[in-house]
Amino acid sequence: MARFEEELAASNLQGVNGVNGVNGVNGVNGVNGVNGHQRIPSRNGSATLAIPDDGNDTVIEVPATRNSVADAQAYMHNLSLSPSMRDRRGSRNSFGTSLPIPRTKRQSRLSSVHYPEGAPVRPGMPPIQPTRELLAAQVQDLSHEKVRAAKDMAFVFDIDGVLVHGDRLIPEGKRVLEILNGDNQLGIKIPHIFLTNGSGKPEAARVEQLSKILHSPISVDQFIQSHTPMRALAEYYKTVLVVGGEGYRCRDVAEEYGFQDVIVPNDIVAWDPTIAPYRVFTEEERRTSRPRDFTKTNIEAILVFSDSRDYATDLQIIMDLLRSENGRLKTVAKDPVSQRIPIYFSQGDLLCPTEHPIPRMSQGAFRIGLEAMYKAMTGVDLERVVYGKPELATYKYADEVLASWMEEIHNDERLPKNIYMIGDNPASDIIGGNMYGWNTCLVRTGVFQGGENDEENPANFGVFTNVLEAVQTAMRKELGKDFQFEFDERINPVLHGNGASAIE
Ligand code: G3P
Ligand code: MG
Repeated sequence: MARFEEELAASNLQGVNGVNGVNGVNGVNGVNGVNGHQRIPSRNGSATLAIPDDGNDTVIEVPATRNSVADAQAYMHNLSLSPSMRDRRGSRNSFGTSLPIPRTKRQSRLSSVHYPEGAPVRPGMPPIQPTRELLAAQVQDLSHEKVRAAKDMAFVFDIDGVLVHGDRLIPEGKRVLEILNGDNQLGIKIPHIFLTNGSGKPEAARVEQLSKILHSPISVDQFIQSHTPMRALAEYYKTVLVVGGEGYRCRDVAEEYGFQDVIVPNDIVAWDPTIAPYRVFTEEERRTSRPRDFTKTNIEAILVFSDSRDYATDLQIIMDLLRSENGRLKTVAKDPVSQRIPIYFSQGDLLCPTEHPIPRMSQGAFRIGLEAMYKAMTGVDLERVVYGKPELATYKYADEVLASWMEEIHNDERLPKNIYMIGDNPASDIIGGNMYGWNTCLVRTGVFQGGENDEENPANFGVFTNVLEAVQTAMRKELGKDFQFEFDERINPVLHGNGASAIE
């Protein structure tokens, strides 16, 4: 059993609901249908939401470990702010869910690689000779042990606070990617993927932007943002409300994921502005929205993809839907539980560091507000599902992506043994990595501002000034203390002998 699963198992044993079988092997969806939204009564008299089960390996049991209002008032503030392992073990609230992650590991093939200055093509000319690759292959032939070790390690990078700050490069991030893309003693590609709680735009657009900032080619196939695994939900829900993000970008994301009928709050306000009495709706917004008669539409699920840009409107519409009869607006269900449609959040970060001196509220804060309102208005707890770091589903998906990326770069689809998570947020990157059995490195370029290590969620491999220091330390551990972080082109005896020109 992976360390993460042991932690979760321990959590279940100690939790009030953990012993009721909701989260066990006979979990919710083992008996519930995919689309029927059947419920299993839980011990506190409420019900457990049926999350789809497609009956294959990509559905995993994910006991939710964040607290609802009812069970955990005493825990809620600090747990949400800083969900330490200790708090998680003692969590008194577990909703049992089976959570799908995408079946198709690979989103695309090589065409998805984004090059900082555009793809290196020379129309009408032969392809550029891969000189370095040839030299590197010769060097690698002579270093079997090191090559094996290099293919048995991998890095998982958080993005904000590790490689970039918004659109601003953290300079060490650029050098790190050069090293991992082959500028190292072996001239070998060291497997690495990107795992961010960021959200709000299609993967390809974000990867293109990131690749420009970092001056390195990055593929969509090595990139996971918070809502990426939610692509799997498109197989289960046709008509969804997508909340959050700028303009209509999250609608674009959802449509790209394959959701057939994507509604956003603007469509609903355009249909009936009285639904959001405090909203000032512009003509441009009305023109670009897609109103229809929502009394005739059953919205099957609510997907919060990104941060709400208008809490008042979004909370009102979400509450209306959660209290409606099977997602039909302008109805109010007699029983708020049995006809409630499911709600998913792409991540649970309470706070997010921005240009403002004090971190700003993020999706976790929005969710907690919604939970409190829902409880106050219905008397029952809101059951919900959260993706993103540090939730288990996201780490499972990261494994899929990493194994697939190994196939891409080394033609060997498997998980490297030594995985290093490099992050700046102890309550997200580090706790998740620790619980999943990865080596964790905490850097000082982002959220973490503390002393020797984080007290609640210490990084198990150490704390580093920046990402370069972390990567070099990990590589020296796996590949030897004297490992060189530069490829020496002169090393090829055919061209240059031992560094001097062969012609002279
Ligand atoms: O909390 C939202 C997001 O900006 C965090 O991004 O890359 O640090 O997971 P990241
Ligand atoms: Mg970060």
